[in-house]
Amino acid sequence: MTTIEDFIKGIPKAELHLHIEGTFEPELMFKIAKRNNIEIKYKSVEEIKKAYNFSNLQDFLDIYYEGAGVLMQEQDFYDLTWAYLKKIHSENVLHAEIFFDPQTHTDRGISFQTVVKGISRALQDSQNKLGVSTKLIMCFLRHLDEDAAIHTFEQALGYKDLITAVGLDSSEVGHPPSKFQHVFEKARQEGFLTVAHAGEEGPAEYVWEALNLLKVSRIDHGNHSFDDDKLVQELVNRKMPLTVCPLSNLKLKVVNDLKQHPLRKMLEKGLLATINSDDPAYFGGYVNENYLAISSALDLSKEEITQLAKNSFAASFLKEEIKQKMIDKVEKYYQKVINI
Ligand code: HPA
Ligand code: ZN
Repeated sequence: MTTIEDFIKGIPKAELHLHIEGTFEPELMFKIAKRNNIEIKYKSVEEIKKAYNFSNLQDFLDIYYEGAGVLMQEQDFYDLTWAYLKKIHSENVLHAEIFFDPQTHTDRGISFQTVVKGISRALQDSQNKLGVSTKLIMCFLRHLDEDAAIHTFEQALGYKDLITAVGLDSSEVGHPPSKFQHVFEKARQEGFLTVAHAGEEGPAEYVWEALNLLKVSRIDHGNHSFDDDKLVQELVNRKMPLTVCPLSNLKLKVVNDLKQHPLRKMLEKGLLATINSDDPAYFGGYVNENYLAISSALDLSKEEITQLAKNSFAASFLKEEIKQKMIDKVEKYYQKVINI
């Protein structure tokens, strides 16, 4: 019989919640820092990994922004993105929707063009050389003000063909979705789809705002939705996808134990939950490790894992006919494995 681990490895899947700056492995960070003549405060890979011991989201973000500070040249953004794509190719991820944080770089004097060109060249190679399709999502940093987001948005207009959606990330509490209502409105008028991190550390009210004010197509995280029964019902009625990130939730102490993770409740309620890695270099695992950790903690069956993989395509921004093809692929895989 196929083990759960092998079943997860082989199942075709999509990843929908992934910050490219969060895939920066220490080895690559050292290499890029060296070629850019940047001193990093850690002496070794082991020392860096030891620092990855977070008590909350802000603790993590401080280290994450510092790490991203060594990215200078277009080639750096290419190398970062390409390393991630090769990794997920080995994990049977067939499609990825990737966040990037332009303000983290433009605020250090790196041009928007350098960032987008480096990432996009790797995405192009992904389709051509690996057969992994991708979409790019530009996130606004919510700890900065809306004018800064609007300025960033205006720069993105020159790259509309490369960017599918806008999102909202960084420090959540005290920075509600309503702060970004105007820039999201502009983005929708220009044809961008919208998503937002909500209910990771912030309250259920932020999830309502993301739905009603930002008119998002997906909620990133959404854990705190369970504090409000009406909201859960609304998410079910709207078939609103939630991009859930189990190892992230554990490392940032959104949950104390994966056994208490709300994923099972989400599935029982009929929510369109998906499994994702968020910032895999920092949280101890790529997408398959996330599937495995949550499956072990909640004792998920192969049927439930298959549902999650189907959800990942259903919740994607792929065209309807491609979505259906991918979902059929997942079902075929399941049938093949259970009939062995
Ligand atoms: N939450 C908010 N902002 C982020 C995250 C996250 O999990 N990862 C990278 N930026
Ligand atoms: Zn995230």
